[in-house]
Amino acid sequence: MNNKARPVSFCRIARVYNLLEKLVFKDALEKTRIACLDSISEAKRILLLGEGDGRFLAKLTSINPDCLVTVLDASPIMLALAKTRVPTTFQGEIHFCKEDVTKFPFPFEAFDAVVSHFFLDCFTEETLSDLLEKLSSTLRPSGKWLIADFVEPSPNTLHSLPPFLCLRILYAFFGLTCGIEARRVVSPHKILRTHGLRESRCISFSNGFLASLVFIKQA
Ligand SMILES: C[S@@+](CC[C@H](N)C(=O)[O-])C[C@H]1O[C@@H](n2cnc3c(N)ncnc32)[C@H](O)[C@@H]1O
Repeated sequence: MNNKARPVSFCRIARVYNLLEKLVFKDALEKTRIACLDSISEAKRILLLGEGDGRFLAKLTSINPDCLVTVLDASPIMLALAKTRVPTTFQGEIHFCKEDVTKFPFPFEAFDAVVSHFFLDCFTEETLSDLLEKLSSTLRPSGKWLIADFVEPSPNTLHSLPPFLCLRILYAFFGLTCGIEARRVVSPHKILRTHGLRESRCISFSNGFLASLVFIKQA
């Protein structure tokens, strides 16, 4: 089946996304999301991709109270939820943009930091190779890219069977409810290396099933 033909929309599950996450993963995804947040506490221009309901945005704008944030998300409901989470103490600027990132014309070297949490796993390798190239070029040299995501386990040991099955269920669920095109997590490492980014930090959770990564663009 060609899943690319179906429109992707997280609107259907946006209001229960947080609740579903807590029921299935407790606080593991949230810990993974914020594990490397301190790496961008002083970044000025920050791009958040597929931010969802704004829980990372809330933490970011608390610790970096005068940054300039661009939030790109295709779901108007996710964007509306994210807006409500910005602390009143925040003094910077946030642009909320309802956009499909695969079609967005990213400006050259415009951001000090890019964040894509539990987002790259929505795309196939084919889409990612194009998207990651465009995103790499929108990050300035020495800029940081934070990625929190699942790690695809190898299916050939008994130990990796539960996370492997968990991911198959998640992909079936998000495929059916949101129409995402991917069916497995594609590691971004190889593509990012090709575009001059190197991994500078990796914090694992849940026995390596979740990873919080920081990549730096070489100057
Ligand atoms: C799995 S959720 C992740 C949300 C959040 N970043 C987190 O940490 O949980 C994926 C998010 O990406 C957005 N999204 C999916 N495909 C997109 C696309 N092509 N362009 C823009 N946003 C997209 C969805 O609307 C949703 O908010």
